Amino acid sequence: MPPDLPDGCTWVEDPRDERVRDYFSLTDVALRRLLEPERGLYMAESEKVLRRALGAGHRLRSLLMTPRWVQEWPDLLRTAQEQGAPVFVAAPGVAEALTGFHLHRGVIAAMHRPVLPRLERVLEGARRVVVLEDVVDHTNVGAVFRSAAALGVDAVLVTPRCADPLYRRSVRVSMGTVFQVPWTRIDPWPDGVEVLRGLGLTVAALALSEDAVCLDQLEQHPPERLALVLGTEGDGLSARTVGSADLVVRIPMGGGVDSLNVAAASAVAFWALRPR
Ligand SMILES: C[S@@+](CC[C@H](N)C(=O)[O-])C[C@H]1O[C@@H](n2cnc3c(N)ncnc32)[C@H](O)[C@@H]1O
Repeated sequence: MPPDLPDGCTWVEDPRDERVRDYFSLTDVALRRLLEPERGLYMAESEKVLRRALGAGHRLRSLLMTPRWVQEWPDLLRTAQEQGAPVFVAAPGVAEALTGFHLHRGVIAAMHRPVLPRLERVLEGARRVVVLEDVVDHTNVGAVFRSAAALGVDAVLVTPRCADPLYRRSVRVSMGTVFQVPWTRIDPWPDGVEVLRGLGLTVAALALSEDAVCLDQLEQHPPERLALVLGTEGDGLSARTVGSADLVVRIPMGGGVDSLNVAAASAVAFWALRPR
């Protein structure tokens, strides 16, 4: 028996209902990472993340809630109505069978994926930029955005094979800062190093090369406009990227540890090289 729902809400009883296909198998990372960009959508999980996404001007495709939460946020229902987005309501068991997890955050939204801005626009006036080369872990991508927002980085660029900043886990780990820090893809890469240089940025590769400049040294006189390039989790930066950068920077390591996690390395470098 469907509960008494506010106007504009649609009760869903079948987890295979085609109208809620945007929410199918959200825990299947391999499937979702292909399907979401292909369908031009991304998922905003939790009220807080959803409000941040809407605040950044992103638009709703639909909302999914369990009955308990329907009366909680009347303004979100109004926004959905204004944007012509359906509000689906399902019993907790149906929502779980549909998405693959318990909807304990009350609401999840399918959002229209925004068109990425042009590189030149993202870099306009930027003094600190980070480039993520082929970083594969969504947690790391989200964590880099969070540090970027907190530590004065003006823009994030992701290479064609880098994990999606709008993937559910990246968004969550970033605490919504993927909606705040301007970002886009830089393609092709590493040819893009030349483009960055042409736009007036000094390109610094963060790598463990013996002949690299120590971060403490660069911190004394950092270039006015700097792009820091960080590499993938396993292999680090490609030799081509390191070879084409203006300089290579190393964070000195101790304690028998050879490298930092990429997100940790980014936070250290952002802090040391923040514009003052
Ligand atoms: C986990 S590390 C990759 C380690 C890889 N074995 C290597 O040799 O680069 C991922 C990325 O974090 C950055 N990184 C980690 N530790 C660093 C350090 N001590 N100095 C400079 N960059 C570092 C680099 O950009 C690196 O590509």
